[in-house]
Amino acid sequence: MKTAVIIGASSGIGAALADVLSANGYRLGLTGRRLPMLEQVKARLPNEALVQQMDVTDVSRAETQFLELVQQLGRVDLVIISAGVGHLNPDLDVGLEMETIQTNVNGFTVLSTAAFKHFTEQGRGHLVGLSSIAALRGGAAAPAYNASKAYISNYLEALRVRAAKQGLDIAVTDIRPGFVDTDMAQGEGLFWVASPETAAAQIYRAIQTKQRCAYVTKRWRLIAWILQMAPGWLYNRL
Ligand SMILES: NC(=O)c1ccc[n+]([C@@H]2O[C@H](COP(=O)([O-])OP(=O)(O)OC[C@H]3O[C@@H](n4cnc5c(N)ncnc54)[C@H](OP(=O)(O)O)[C@@H]3O)[C@@H](O)[C@H]2O)c1
Repeated sequence: MKTAVIIGASSGIGAALADVLSANGYRLGLTGRRLPMLEQVKARLPNEALVQQMDVTDVSRAETQFLELVQQLGRVDLVIISAGVGHLNPDLDVGLEMETIQTNVNGFTVLSTAAFKHFTEQGRGHLVGLSSIAALRGGAAAPAYNASKAYISNYLEALRVRAAKQGLDIAVTDIRPGFVDTDMAQGEGLFWVASPETAAAQIYRAIQTKQRCAYVTKRWRLIAWILQMAPGWLYNRL
C-alpha cells in the first residue's frame, strides 16, 4: 500500500486530496492545526489515516512531528505541502505579511527539506508543493502572498535540480492553482473558480504522471502565459 503525508489536510484542497488519495488506496498521514477538522476528514476516508496536529510556523516542532509521523507510517512515498495562508492586505499590515511569510516560506522550507532528506535516505519519493498562479508576478493586493508563492516555485525547482544532479529518484511537482473554491479564495472578480474536488482530481493526475509543473485547472496555463508576457506598464493597469 502506498503512503502519503498531506501537510494542511484539514480543509480545502488538502482535504480533497485526502479523499482522492485514500480512494486510490493510499494510507495517509494528515496534518493541520485544527484537530477536529482533521478527525472529520479521517472519518470519511475509505482507508486508514493517521492525524497529527501541527502548526508549520513552529518550525522545529513541525519538523519533529513530521519525522514522527513518517516513523509511524513506516515509509512515505509522497509528501504534499498544501498548508498556506493568504490575506488581502489593503493597509499593508506588516503583521499579516509576516504571518504569510512564517507559514508559506518558513513552514514550507522546513517541511520540504525534511521530506527531501527522508526521500534521499529512502532512495525514492515524490514531493508536491502547492504554489499558485500568483507566483508569476507581484501582487498589489497581497504582496507577501505572491512573493511567498514565487519562493515556493523557485525552491521546488531547486530541489528538482538537486535530485537530478545527485542522481536521486525523487520527483518534484509544482502545483499552480488559479482560483479554487475554498476559505482562502477571497475578494472580488474571481473567475474560472474550480471546486476543490476538480482541483484535487487534476493534481492527482499530475502526481501520477510526475509532472514538473501543473496549472490547475489546466486553462490557467493561458493566464500564466499572459502574465509572463505582459510588460510592466500593462501589468500595472490589470
Ligand atoms: N484556493 C485558491 O484559490 C488557491 C489558489 C492558489 C493556491 N492555493 C494554495 O493552495 C493551498 C491550500 O489552500 P486552500 O485553498 O485549500 O485553503 P484552505 O482551505 O484555507 O486550506 C489551507 C490549509 O493550510 C493549513 N494551514 C494554514 N496555516 C497553517 C499552519 N500555520 N500550520 C499548519 N497548517 C496550516 C490549514 O489547516 P489549519 O487551519 O487546520 O492549520 C488548511 O488545511 C495553499 O497553499 C494556497 O496558497 C489556493
